[in-house]
Amino acid sequence: MERTFVILKPNAVQRELVGELISRFEKRGLKITALRMTVLSAEQAELHYAQHREKSFYSDLVSFITSGPSVLIVLEAENAVSVVRQMVGATDPKDALPGTIRGDYANTLGHNMIHASDSAGAAIREIALFFTEEEIAKYTLSIRPWL
Ligand code: RTP
Ligand code: MG
Repeated sequence: MERTFVILKPNAVQRELVGELISRFEKRGLKITALRMTVLSAEQAELHYAQHREKSFYSDLVSFITSGPSVLIVLEAENAVSVVRQMVGATDPKDALPGTIRGDYANTLGHNMIHASDSAGAAIREIALFFTEEEIAKYTLSIRPWL
């Protein structure tokens, strides 16, 4: 089963959309295996977004993602990475289709509500930044054969 990593960014928490967003993933058949609310430290944010270190938007990105509590989530399903990226939608909300999270709830590139891993390798790296293997729940959903 593939894992992916999601961050409900500080504006999702401030806009009281946490329950609604988590609910989308549950309904789609993604199993929640780790969940925590936390304020990211600058060091965690810099490591998480290390691929963007040289970009002009990097410092704005780090200051936004550390500006208040976020919700960190590990999700599991077959093809979890691509399924969740599809559900999240295009990086710039102006290009995100209706029905996607960014297409339904976001309007600005810098405040696009949610992060999702862009590859299985990125998911492994990002999950390890925030959770130990012991913190990731191992359980079976009895509804699984019906999904
Ligand atoms: P994320 O990592 O947050 O899930 O977003 P993503 O994969 O869709 O997009 P990515 O290229 O990884 O960019 C990370 C975040 O940086 C901000 N961004 N600003 N040109 C810009 O000003 C610019 N480009 C990207 C976005 O907030 C994006 O989510
Ligand atoms: Mg990204």
